[in-house]
Amino acid sequence: MTAPLAEASADTSGPPRDHLGTSNPIRVALLGLGQVGAAVARLAGHTPGRRIEVTGALVRRPAGRNGWPFPLVADPRALLDGRPDVVIEVLGGVEPARSIVLAALERGIPVVTANKSLLARCADELFAAAASSGAPLRYEAAVIPGVPFLCAFAHRPLASRITRLSAILNGTSNFIVSRLSRGSSFEDALGLARERGYAEPDATRDLDGTDAAEKLVILVRQFARVGVRPDRLTRTGIDCLDTQDLHCAAAFGGAIRPVACADWTSAFSAWVGPAFVPEAHPLSRVDGVSNAICLDSPTASAPLVFAGPGAGPEVTAATILDDVLSTGQTKGFVRSTHVITTPPTQHAPARWFVRFRDIGLRFDTRDVSELLSAHDVWIDRWSVEGQPGGDRSRRALTLPCDQRGLDAGLGAVRAATGCNVFAIRALEAPCG
Ligand code: HSE
Repeated sequence: MTAPLAEASADTSGPPRDHLGTSNPIRVALLGLGQVGAAVARLAGHTPGRRIEVTGALVRRPAGRNGWPFPLVADPRALLDGRPDVVIEVLGGVEPARSIVLAALERGIPVVTANKSLLARCADELFAAAASSGAPLRYEAAVIPGVPFLCAFAHRPLASRITRLSAILNGTSNFIVSRLSRGSSFEDALGLARERGYAEPDATRDLDGTDAAEKLVILVRQFARVGVRPDRLTRTGIDCLDTQDLHCAAAFGGAIRPVACADWTSAFSAWVGPAFVPEAHPLSRVDGVSNAICLDSPTASAPLVFAGPGAGPEVTAATILDDVLSTGQTKGFVRSTHVITTPPTQHAPARWFVRFRDIGLRFDTRDVSELLSAHDVWIDRWSVEGQPGGDRSRRALTLPCDQRGLDAGLGAVRAATGCNVFAIRALEAPCG
């Protein structure tokens, strides 16, 4: 299911717009004035080369929000009727963002957005509107905002022949997992992520993998030309982890990271969730709020790796403003018309990190190994923790096995021992 070369460089943005000539400021209408919108407004007057002028901002309740050098309005028509050069959308969520972005594109106004939910759910419709009016739709800040890699690939069809990707796409959950492994509590780590502006207004979207799943959908659309809904992806959140899992992963020679993976080498598969990442894998060293993406391409002997800040109002605002500055350039992002609907996900055999909690005292690791081996699941390494007479949690790393066999094997262990079982995937270190 490799992307055809010609499509990977397709252009939707049309010719440069005259009003983006170099002498005048670029007049932007801002949809949303939350943490990212406020950072955009602060940085807009300080862009190198061209001045960007915010002509107004859409907010839910303008009354009492003074102090901005532009009008705040509650009606988007007031902004669009002013015919801005570019609309920046940082409202988040699907509506009203979708309707306003469509209205702007239909009027031929370029749009820059950082809205993952909107792109993951409405990309076909939005790109169709962009293609029909010739107005560009830019979204570099929607995925790993600190690393401008999407646009670079949109201009490079050979480099874009990616067949597999593994990534850390949510800054908040990576920040929390990193701090947990250094002894912080979950609540303190989440509180700090909120304070620094990393977390979504509803942080559940970070913790349960929704945000990462939306970003993965955007990536597979661009690289695999596969259209898939975020709710079709297998998704696990980081709230299932405990500190001992993180320590044990270190003892097994790796780390647990909140990962998003997709593979379309043959059958399509995509999933989001915490995973055991061996030390030799580039993602094992991506710490804190950083994100990273490893892209496998048949033209490269080792994965292409991009890493950098994954969240934060300033870094996101800077990338949004770079997109604004580039809206007058001719090349746009990939066209939507060739995206295919995804076939059902099929997962290749993988190693698994498994936790057996509250296992009965009369069972030991040999019993568990035997029960699993009946389903062709073989344990590579065991780790035994807990105090005598206390919680006898045990963790193990399997050899590569089929997920159906694993599910059946874990079911057999659960039935025989009464223990609570939890399993996450292990990534393989890339070759080369
Ligand atoms: N809440 C998101 C994250 C913001 O933590 O990655 C950037 O998309």
